[in-house]
Amino acid sequence: MEESGSDLWESARKMKGLGDERVATLEKLIGFNPHHARAKSLLAIILANRNAVANRSRSLELARDAISLRPDDATLRIALARLLGEGEGETLEEKMLALESALEIDQTNLEAAVMYLTSSKNCDEVTYENIKNIITDKDVNRHYELGGYFRRRDKERCKYHYGVVVRVMEGVIADTGRDVKGLHSKAKFWLATVEKGGEGAVERCPKEYVVGLYKGFAPTFDHTLVEKLHYKTPQLLLDTLMAAAEGVGPEGDSDGDGGKKYSSILDLGCGTGLSGLRFKGLLGEEGSFLGVDLSPEMLVKANERGCYDECLCHDIETCFNIEGVRARAPFDLVIACDVFVYLGNLENIFQGVKGSLGVNGVFCFSVELLEEEKGGKYNYICQTFARFSHKQEYIVQLAAEYGFEVVEMRKCVLRKNAGVDVVGLLTILK
Ligand SMILES: C[S@@+](CC[C@H](N)C(=O)[O-])C[C@H]1O[C@@H](n2cnc3c(N)ncnc32)[C@H](O)[C@@H]1O
Repeated sequence: MEESGSDLWESARKMKGLGDERVATLEKLIGFNPHHARAKSLLAIILANRNAVANRSRSLELARDAISLRPDDATLRIALARLLGEGEGETLEEKMLALESALEIDQTNLEAAVMYLTSSKNCDEVTYENIKNIITDKDVNRHYELGGYFRRRDKERCKYHYGVVVRVMEGVIADTGRDVKGLHSKAKFWLATVEKGGEGAVERCPKEYVVGLYKGFAPTFDHTLVEKLHYKTPQLLLDTLMAAAEGVGPEGDSDGDGGKKYSSILDLGCGTGLSGLRFKGLLGEEGSFLGVDLSPEMLVKANERGCYDECLCHDIETCFNIEGVRARAPFDLVIACDVFVYLGNLENIFQGVKGSLGVNGVFCFSVELLEEEKGGKYNYICQTFARFSHKQEYIVQLAAEYGFEVVEMRKCVLRKNAGVDVVGLLTILK
């Protein structure tokens, strides 16, 4: 019965993408032939890519159905494993079982082997040996995944796999001029953090890394940060600004309600708007609030939250000269909450902010603190988990260099990481 509705199947395959028409074609085909395993598996993937959270249970149901219809097809099991994601407990168990059986069907399936290994807590040496026998230089995506897996487990293996990605991608860039999926810049970045512990070796996280990270993180960001990581930076930064309010910001208390009002605020790395939500109350009646962020998925959430007048998808390091930002400058308040963890060198930011602030303008931001004794000769370092921390001395030095006056610097716990307090520095400059 699999081939019934073959026209529908051919059209669905040709359509590509996540469009409504493709979904409707697959639904029609499945209605017509409920035994079409590949149609079910494809629909499962498309639905998950359209909205992983909302469509999760339907996607999983379709993917499991597909396997029961064609139990000897390894690719259907791999599809289910991908859909199950990074889960724990029963979800992880089901994922590992799906991969194990995919490998029983086809031991040379590299995708299944790499996913199996990288989903295991402890490195399974038999699987790794198998991978070494079947992987080639052409499998750059798999080498990249393996580099990531070994980052915190085995420095030499990590360096080997990222090294392959860098070498192969250099050839691709030479031929095509394109760094496909940013693999070259991401692998180079990780190599540097692993080789030298990140100390002074890297200046910032590559754009592609940030975009990729938050693409997956956006749907659960608010919940994870607030509920699990006890993220408090926006409120703490606002409190610090309020405490310093006498000496900073617009002249006087313009509406007499005890708070100063700002007319143009810029939120650098605004994310889903957790920071915007806190600072929105500082905006005067006619005020404008602009958010800038690299991640389109985070900006979708920010737009839904509705705290900004406009959100621009751009790198904050280079945003100060773009039309959308210049049009709203000068700003009287620029905030940056938990975004400098992705940038080590902050010179461009300080220069850009200085140039876009108006008279009495205020710049307030958080950094994770690099204690003097840990940083050695470095102003900032990148931890192996790709977050930068900065020395207080560096911030003071930049402030002086770019003509800011330090109004307030406050050390406090910003959030938890693996149950441990993360100490940060909140800074208010004018
Ligand atoms: C931890 S979130 C913080 C979001 C928000 N400020 C808050 O307090 O909830 C960091 C955000 O910075 C963004 N980001 C990181 N590096 C960036 C860059 N170079 N340019 C623009 N946005 C960046 C990420 O996309 C992410 O949305």
